[in-house]
Amino acid sequence: MHRTLLLSFLCFLFHHSFVHAYEWKTFFFKQQVDHFSFANQDTYPQRYLVNSTYWKRGGGPIFFYTGNEGDIEWFAQNTGFMWDIAEEFGAMLIFAEHRYYGQSLPYGNKSYSDAKYLGYLTSEQALADFAELISYVKSTNSGAADSPVIAFGGSYGGMLAAWMRIKYPHIITGAIAASAPILQFTGLTPCDAFNRVVTADFASASTECSETIRKSWKSLSSVLSNDEGKEWIRTNWNLCVPLNGTDDVENLKDWLTNVWTNLAMVNYPYAANFLAPLPAYPVKAVCEHLTNSSLDDHSLLIELFKGLSVYANFTGQTKCLDVSQQADQSLGDMGWDFQACTEMVMPMCGDGINDMFEAQPWNIEKYSERCLKKWKVNPRPLMAPLIYGGRNISSSSNIVFSNGLLDPWSTGGVTKSLSDSIVAIIIPEGAHHLDLRAGDPNDPPSVLKAREIEKQFIGKWISSVKKDKKETLKSIIVGSEHIFVVVVPKRSE
Ligand SMILES: *[C@@H]1O[C@H](CO)[C@@H](O)[C@H](O)[C@H]1NC(C)=O
Ligand SMILES: *[C@@H]1O[C@H](CO)[C@@H](O)[C@H](O)[C@H]1NC(C)=O
Ligand SMILES: *[C@@H]1O[C@H](CO)[C@@H](O)[C@H](O)[C@H]1NC(C)=O
Ligand SMILES: *[C@@H]1O[C@H](CO)[C@@H](O)[C@H](O)[C@H]1NC(C)=O
Ligand SMILES: *[C@@H]1O[C@H](CO)[C@@H](O)[C@H](O)[C@H]1NC(C)=O
Ligand SMILES: *[C@@H]1O[C@H](CO)[C@@H](O)[C@H](O)[C@H]1NC(C)=O
Repeated sequence: MHRTLLLSFLCFLFHHSFVHAYEWKTFFFKQQVDHFSFANQDTYPQRYLVNSTYWKRGGGPIFFYTGNEGDIEWFAQNTGFMWDIAEEFGAMLIFAEHRYYGQSLPYGNKSYSDAKYLGYLTSEQALADFAELISYVKSTNSGAADSPVIAFGGSYGGMLAAWMRIKYPHIITGAIAASAPILQFTGLTPCDAFNRVVTADFASASTECSETIRKSWKSLSSVLSNDEGKEWIRTNWNLCVPLNGTDDVENLKDWLTNVWTNLAMVNYPYAANFLAPLPAYPVKAVCEHLTNSSLDDHSLLIELFKGLSVYANFTGQTKCLDVSQQADQSLGDMGWDFQACTEMVMPMCGDGINDMFEAQPWNIEKYSERCLKKWKVNPRPLMAPLIYGGRNISSSSNIVFSNGLLDPWSTGGVTKSLSDSIVAIIIPEGAHHLDLRAGDPNDPPSVLKAREIEKQFIGKWISSVKKDKKETLKSIIVGSEHIFVVVVPKRSE
């Protein structure tokens, strides 16, 4: 099996209990399944969540979360930043579910059964859904017609937020795109960058730590080369299911790869409860166990298991280690896999020297073969850069891209400002979209500062809309004997 990093975008975050308890009203909007051709008349109910408690009717802004690959309630609960600032801005909060996730299934049960139904799962369709929904909300809520709309999103949702502003600037006034790897595409970012950042996170805890993980792959191969070794691992790692085939060994390595990657992504400064409950700075906690890379194979694997248990068994409640988890067929995983097999092709590779993983070349042929077999589709690696502009987006404006340097996805993020109004924020101590989460007493100062800057931009975007309205519009009429300029008020206030 190919390395499954493509699956571990955000989906892994879904099996967890809610920390905050925000409240909203739930609505469904009748959406067109296909926005871009006229042959398919089907519609589906798209779910969205609204809280207008703090909204200043008659112009107060709309803060719109562009839902990504998962149940929208999860994003609503985990995007505390929007809730934290709603009152100050007098904003209405809307969280819109991405089609094919959560309850927004265009073909109900059948949505995932065939490429014929699943083919409408694209980012372009999702953006059009959001645009339709915003227009509907603005036209049906009295006092919303003039409300500026600010898009918010993290991870793939951050990509969507930025792309909303790029594609629908007449609908979206500005976008906060957190940890949005819009450059993690073919030809835009070296494929080995991601694994290097994951490695750097572990190496910065201690070089012995990343070195131990780097050596562990060989130790695993050697120990698992025979049945006694497989049995030894099963006993010493408390595996739920014995390993017997070579596929199992590959799966185990994939699982481990995902564990280390996930840990880097959620290396938050405070204890949090995601896939599993984790301590503050979990990478450091893992590395406290991985202190000697010179151990023999068996001892090294024992140490590795202790480190691993920080992630897999922090509560001490895990009966046995289920390394098949990544085969989890949740909608989030399946949907993202399909998207990764169509337009969201994000090349990943490593040489095992500059990173701590097994050498893994990027092989688009093998990648495409798997996609064709699994979903009956062929990936189009250059489609997203073509449609959204890749790095060439300076004709757009009003986007803040925030990046946590601890987050491996920062490698595909916009880390340098592209203009005065397409701004990159770097958060040295930030993990995956930490800035979108609710304020926490343990937040590092850099995250507080990032949120402050984001608020300033939001304020600026909102007031520039108000200013626009007061300005007058000039048109130049040419062709007559006298050239003159007509000045008309743009809009009566
Ligand atoms: C909106 O959120 C606020 C603050 O969390 C809460 O007090 C209020 O009850 C919510 N409103 C609705 C309609 O859920
Ligand atoms: C999905 O399938 C189940 C069982 O086949 C059926 O009971 C249910 O009504 C279906 N739901 C939808 C939305 O089609
Ligand atoms: C692993 O062992 C189980 C039980 O002995 C057997 O049913 C299964 O086919 C084996 N799997 C492989 C891949 O050999
Ligand atoms: C690391 O393990 C090796 C082999 O067991 C041992 O010789 C060495 O002293 C250990 N190093 C440390 C710092 O404990
Ligand atoms: C998890 O921790 C508990 C308590 O230390 C232990 O009894 C259990 O065996 C551990 N589970 C795994 C899978 O290692
Ligand atoms: C962006 O511009 C560069 C330089 O003009 C060009 O080589 C590249 O193909 C463009 N990328 C996209 C995605 O249009």
